[in-house]
Formats: sequence, structure tokens, C-alpha cells
Amino acid sequence: MANPDRLKSRLRDGGISRRAFLKYCTTLVSMLGLPSGLTSVMAQTLDRIKRQSVIWLSFQECTGCTESLTRSPAPTIENLIFDFISLDYHHTLQAASGEAAEQAREHARDSSRGKYLLIVDGSIPIADGGVYSTIAGVSNLDMLRSCARDAAAIIAVGSCASFGGLPQAAPNPTGAVSVGNLMERGDIDQKPLVNISGCPPLPTAIAATLAHYVLFNGLPALDTLGRPRAIYGNTVHERCSRLHFYEQKKFAKDFDDEGARKGWCLYEVGCKGPLTHNACATVKWNDGTSFPIESGHPCLGCSEPGFWDRGEFYESLLAKDAVAETSDLDSAESGRAVFEHRCVYCHASGPKPFRTQADRIPHLFQKNPSGVHRLNVSEQELDDLVSYLTRIDRNGQR
Ligand code: SF4
Ligand code: SF4
Ligand code: F3S
Repeated sequence: MANPDRLKSRLRDGGISRRAFLKYCTTLVSMLGLPSGLTSVMAQTLDRIKRQSVIWLSFQECTGCTESLTRSPAPTIENLIFDFISLDYHHTLQAASGEAAEQAREHARDSSRGKYLLIVDGSIPIADGGVYSTIAGVSNLDMLRSCARDAAAIIAVGSCASFGGLPQAAPNPTGAVSVGNLMERGDIDQKPLVNISGCPPLPTAIAATLAHYVLFNGLPALDTLGRPRAIYGNTVHERCSRLHFYEQKKFAKDFDDEGARKGWCLYEVGCKGPLTHNACATVKWNDGTSFPIESGHPCLGCSEPGFWDRGEFYESLLAKDAVAETSDLDSAESGRAVFEHRCVYCHASGPKPFRTQADRIPHLFQKNPSGVHRLNVSEQELDDLVSYLTRIDRNGQR
């Protein structure tokens, strides 16, 4: 008889064949950058595991992250895994409401202390005592604090929970912050934290991180922004199907010009793919059907911090207008503008973590030894950037 506590039974009941499941495990293993020999180990482990206790809290969000994982015309392996692991408590999907829902969360927390995974989507508003988002009269911050205390690890799903996202866009009236911000400030307990950024994130990225957790009882290796390195290690650009047009300098200049119709590169209509780290171009969306660039839309950089405020969506990274308006400022101020329009895509947390000394920055661009500084930055802009970083150094800010 089928055992509903086993993923194997659930997948079979959901119409997923063994072959499709193994193929899916191959995708997860490759996405996590693991040796291919681990595919069968992952399949066996996922078959065997008992339900991982998960508490999923949704704060200031649009439900897009949850929908990304669960909306599908047919059962997918992702939503079956999601359903399998997330039954303990989920703000949006649970059947319970009112007091029963509150009790369900407390029960999930009390019965798996120290063992449950806490998944958070949405940012947390902290302005004015957190009044902008409460659940059953409890502020999001208080609820997160109490659930984080006994969690084994926390997964911030989506750019809102990872970096503040849309709710944090200027002027950020609710004082929205990310889970990581709260940990840094000491407002919630320090726990292992992984950011699965994207607006929304790829369902496979969430599933792969969960699979890694149950397989190795821990989180995968992370990049400097706390994202799984294997999933966010490459830019969208590096794997883009239009890359050959970029290299041939064939660019669409408008959304309905001949270049756009011929599928040329979207760099000059604002594509942020060269500076956006995500696996969209390889994993794609809707069961591998397509991704924004393939369907004619530039990458908006949705998996990078501050993507709403930093760099207009449809402004080319080459556009000079953005910094031209700052020509009456001194060099250091102009350099700040260069930083805020160009460097933020990769160095969004500010110039603090730059390891390179200010006077070595021009060398980075001119010789490009690391192969990552592809932006076209003029000599003047480089000088300004150096002035800005030198001023920061002088003031002891990095
Ligand atoms: Fe919605 Fe995007 Fe925030 Fe997810 S990250 S909750 S999709 S706004
Ligand atoms: Fe790069 Fe964007 Fe052009 Fe693709 S469309 S090659 S990601 S700039
Ligand atoms: Fe987001 Fe760009 Fe992918 S906008 S969905 S990271 S192509």
C-alpha cells in the first residue's frame, strides 16, 4: 500500500514515472555542481527520506514566490516535493485559518525544535514598530524572531526575503529589510542562511537547495551574497542563447525593430544579463520551456540586490545619460554615480567589500585579468570612480 509519508509514493500517485524522477535528479545534481555519480544517491535519499519539517512564513510579498513553485497545469516534481515537505505550516497554502492556523504553527515549531527548516518569502517591515504587516496581531519581525530561534536553518526565498526586493524600493515607506539584514543587526538569532534570489526564483533552485539539505544535512556552498554558488555562479549572459549576436555586435535597438524580430541581442534595450547571476538561461521556466530573453524581453536583473532602484529597466548599461547629469559634481561625487549605475549590479552591498585598492581599479578594467569587468567605462568615469573609492578609503569607510 502506498505510504503517503514517502516521496516515492507521492510521486507515483502524482503520475511521475521513475524515469522522469531520475532525469529530474540528474538536473538537480548538475545544478548543484555535484558529481554525476550522486544522481542515484540523491534519488535513493529522496525516495527514502521522511518528510522534512518545514515552516514557511510569508511576509511583505506578492505570492509570486509560492506561485512560482506551485502553479502548474499538471503536477510537477517540484510541486510534489514542495507539497511533500511543506505540509507543517504555510501561510498561503494551508487550509487552516484563524486560531487553528496559529496553533498549527506553534505545534510545528514545538514538535520539531532545532530540526525544522524555516522558509521565508517577503521582506520584513520594521518601520514604526512593524505595524505595516502583522499576522494575528503579531508583527512580522516578532513572528520571524520566534520561529528563527528553533530553526535548524533558514531559506530566504525570493529577492524580497533575500535582499528587500520590491517592498524596499525607494522611498521604502515600511522600512522593509531582508532576513539577512535582520541577522546582521542581531534582531533575530544567527542561523545558517541561504538566499534563493529572483523575483520570483526558479522553482528548480528552491527544490535543488532543499534536496541538498536533505542529502547532506546542510546548505550548499554560497557566494558572497549568500546564494548557492553552483546555481548563481554564472551570469545569465554567459549561457544566453543570444550570446553569439552579442559577440557579433548585432543588437536590437528597439523592441519592434528588425534586430528584435531577428532575435538579436537585447543589450541595448536594457538587458542586465551580463551582470545578473542566475540559471535562467539553462534551467528556464515553465518546465524548461523558455526564459525572459528567449521570449524577447531583456533580463531585468531580478536576482540581484536593489534591482528595482539600481539601473533603469530599459536603459542600456552603455547609456551615458545616467551619469552625464552629474557632470557638475566633483569627481568623487561623479564616481559615486558611476558606482551606483554600473558597479552595483555585482557589488550591490556597496564598495566596502571591494578588495582592490582604488588605484588598481583602472588596471582591472583595462587588463581585465579576472574576465568579469565587461562594462564599457570611459577613462573619465574610471578616474571618477577612483576618486570616489579613494575618498571612501581616506574616510576609513572600507
Ligand atoms: Fe513577489 Fe518577487 Fe517578492 Fe517573490 S521576490 S514575493 S515574486 S515581489
Ligand atoms: Fe547577454 Fe542579454 Fe544579449 Fe543575452 S540578450 S547575450 S544576456 S546582453
Ligand atoms: Fe530574472 Fe533575468 Fe532570469 S529578469 S527571471 S534573472 S532572465
